[in-house]
Amino acid sequence: MTYIGQPVKRVDGRDKVTGKAKYAAEFNVPDLTYGYVISGTIAKGKITRIDSSKALALPGVLTVFTHENRPHTAWFDMSYKDQDAPPGSPFRPLHDAKIKYSGQPVALVVAETFELARYAASLVEVSYDEETHETDLEAHLSEGREPSIGMATLIKPLPPKPRGDADAAMAQAPVSIKAHHVHGPQHHNPMEMFGTTVVYEGEKKGKPYFTIYDKTQGAPNSQLYVKQIFGLSLDQVRVISPYVGGGFGSGLRPQYQLFLAVMAAKELKRSVRVTLTRQQMFTFGHRPQTVQDVELGAAADGTITALKHGAIAATSQFEDYTEVVVNWSGMLYDVPDATLEYKLKSLDLYSPLDMRAPGGVTGDHAIETAMDALAYELNMDPVELRLKNYSEKDWTEDDKPFSSKELRECFRQGAERFGWASRNPEPRATKRGDVLVGWGMATGIWDASRMFARAEALLTVNGKLRVSSATADIGTGTYTIMTQIAADTMGMPIEDVIFRLGDTDMPMAPIQGGSWTASTVGSAVKQVCEDLKKTLFKLARKSSQSPFHNADFKEVIFRNGQMALRENPSIAMSLTDIVSLNGGRAVSETSTSMPNPLELKKYSRHTHSAAFVEVEVDEDLGTVTVTRAVSAIAAGKILNPRTARSQIIGGMVWGISHALQEDSKMDHRYGRFMNHNLAEYHMPVCADIHDLDVIFVEEHDEIVNPLGAKGIGEIGLVAMPAAIANAVFHATGKRIYDLPITIDRVL
Ligand code: MOS
Repeated sequence: MTYIGQPVKRVDGRDKVTGKAKYAAEFNVPDLTYGYVISGTIAKGKITRIDSSKALALPGVLTVFTHENRPHTAWFDMSYKDQDAPPGSPFRPLHDAKIKYSGQPVALVVAETFELARYAASLVEVSYDEETHETDLEAHLSEGREPSIGMATLIKPLPPKPRGDADAAMAQAPVSIKAHHVHGPQHHNPMEMFGTTVVYEGEKKGKPYFTIYDKTQGAPNSQLYVKQIFGLSLDQVRVISPYVGGGFGSGLRPQYQLFLAVMAAKELKRSVRVTLTRQQMFTFGHRPQTVQDVELGAAADGTITALKHGAIAATSQFEDYTEVVVNWSGMLYDVPDATLEYKLKSLDLYSPLDMRAPGGVTGDHAIETAMDALAYELNMDPVELRLKNYSEKDWTEDDKPFSSKELRECFRQGAERFGWASRNPEPRATKRGDVLVGWGMATGIWDASRMFARAEALLTVNGKLRVSSATADIGTGTYTIMTQIAADTMGMPIEDVIFRLGDTDMPMAPIQGGSWTASTVGSAVKQVCEDLKKTLFKLARKSSQSPFHNADFKEVIFRNGQMALRENPSIAMSLTDIVSLNGGRAVSETSTSMPNPLELKKYSRHTHSAAFVEVEVDEDLGTVTVTRAVSAIAAGKILNPRTARSQIIGGMVWGISHALQEDSKMDHRYGRFMNHNLAEYHMPVCADIHDLDVIFVEEHDEIVNPLGAKGIGEIGLVAMPAAIANAVFHATGKRIYDLPITIDRVL
C-alpha cells in the first residue's frame, strides 16, 4: 500500500465539478450587503471632488466610502508588509486624494444588492486634477537603477557580481550573437476573479469578530494583513479559503477588495461582499514589462566564453517589485567571463506582482533564444550546444553544486520522444501543404525551495485520520498529494484519510507560491504523521498487558491501518484499538517542519526541463500554431503523476499563451491598459492547443526535503516560449525577438 508516486485521482475533484466546492464570493449569509468599487480614470494626479449625493439618495444605498470619509484605521499609522511585499510602501486604498495609477480604486459604494451598488456607482461623480504621467518603459531605458533590497530579495536574489571581463572576452570571441527583447506586460486572469465575503459575526467580549472568505493563496497572509492594518487581534479575524479558482500569483498579496470589504463591514457592522469585475482584474498587479539585452561569445567548438545578460523592468512609484530574470543564464551556463544585470524603472503603474514562473519565463526566453541563434552561427545542433556548455555547478551562488540535476536525461528522453534526430536544421526547409513547419527546443530552470510550515494530524475514535494545515490548493493538487503523503506515512488506507486546508484556525503555512508547497507542506504533513505514530506507539505500549510493552519504536511498523512488530507482524493492533486506549478521545499532534537553512545553503536547488516544440507558420496569414510539444521535466520525486502532469500541461498551455497571445496593451496617452477584457486580452482556447506530451525523468534528491520532491507548479511554463520562438525561426528563417509573436510580427 503505497500511494506516493501513484496517479491518485483528485480527492477534491468531485466537489469541484459538482459545484459543491465554494469560492470566496459564493458564501452566502443573511443580511449580506454588496460593495462595488469605483475605479479612477486618470494615471496620475489628484481627486478634486467626489459627489456621491445622487447615489446616496437611492433607497438601499448604505454609504459611499471615499478618501474623505473613510474611517481611520491602524493601517495609516504603520507600514505593514504582507508575505509577498516588495521593498517600499504598499498601496493604501482610499488613503488620500492622490492618484498613483489608472484604475486605482477611488470609492466603494455599499448597498443592499449588488445591482443597486453597481448602478449607484455609475451616479458618483469624480473630478480630477491631472498631472503628466510616465508609463512607457521603452522611452526610459537609459534610466534603469538598482532595485532596493528587502525581505523579498532574500527569496529572489539580485544578480551576482560580474565575473571576469565579459566585454574583453566578447571582443575576442570568434563567434558571437546579440539580441534585444521586449516583453509586454501580462495580467492575471484566473477563472475566479478577486472577491471577498466578510461576515460580521457581532461582538465577542466587546470586540467585533469577522469571518472572512477571501480569494487568496494564503489565508494566514490575509489574516495577518487584516489584523495589522485594522488594529485587531488575531482572535477577531478568521480567514477561510478552501478553494481557489486559479491563483498563478494573483493571490499572493492581499488585494484591495479585501481591505475595502473589511473596512465596510467594520464600519457598518454588517456582512459585506466585494467582488471585482473582469475589467478590474487589470487594476491590481501584473507581470511587468521587461526589456532585455543578451550577448553570447563562443569559441569555434561551441564553448561559450562570454555572457552578458541585462534586463530592465518597470515597477510602480511606491514599491520595488523585483523578480529573478537574468541569474538563470548563469545557472545554466558556467561561463568564465559574464555580466548579469537587473535594473528597475519606476513608472505611474500599480506594482507588478508575481505571475507563474515570474522572471524565469522572461529571462529564459532571452537566453534560450540566444542559444538557438548561437547554435546556428556555429552550425551546431542546439541540443549539442547545450550539452557542450552544461553547468555542473552554479556560479551565481558561489559555485555551489546542484542538489540534483538530471537535465541531460531531459534532453535525451525529450529529444527521443519528439523525434529530434530527424530534424533538418535548415530554416524554411520543411513544408506541410502551404504552411512552413519548424522545430525548436529550449532548456528551462526554476527554483526548488522549501519554507517552514506546521500541520496537525488527528486520529479520531473511529480510526479516521484528519490532517490539516492552513495552506492553499490553487488547483495544484495539494489536497490530493497531502492525503497521499499522510496515508503512506501512517500506513493507512487512503479512504480513511482526509486533508483540510485554507483556514487560519489550522496550523500556520506560508502562501502557496514559488512551487514550494509540495516540498514545504508535504514535509510538515510527513513530520506530523511521524510524530503521531510515536504518540500512538507510547499509548499502545503503556499497559503491562500490551504485546508492545517491551517494544522499542524502531521495532514497529505501521501498515494496513495497524501497528505491528516488524519481526513478527502477526503481533499487531489496529489504530482504532490504539485510539480507544485514550479514554474515548481522539489522539492528535501538531508539528513544525523547518528546513535546515545551513544544510540547504550548501546547494543550488532547482528543477530543470527541456521543451521540444513543433509549429506551423502560415506566412500568408502570419499565424503560428503549436502543433505538438514535449516537455521533459526533472523535478525530483513525482508525488502524483496525474496531478503533476496537469501542472506541466497547464504550464505548457501558458507557454503557448505567453509566446503567441498574452499582452496587456497600454495606451500611453492615458496611461491605461486598454484591452482589459477577455475579448481583447488574448489567451488560448481549446482550438489553439494540440498534442502536448509530458515526461518526468527520474531524479533522486536527498537534499531538498525528506520527500525528495521539488515542486512542479512553474517549471512547465519556463522553456516553452523560447522553444516556440526557436521553432518559428526554424520554420521561417526570421528571428522574432519580442513577445508575444503576433501576426504583425510574423508578417
Ligand atoms: Mo506563483 S507566481 O509563486 O503563485
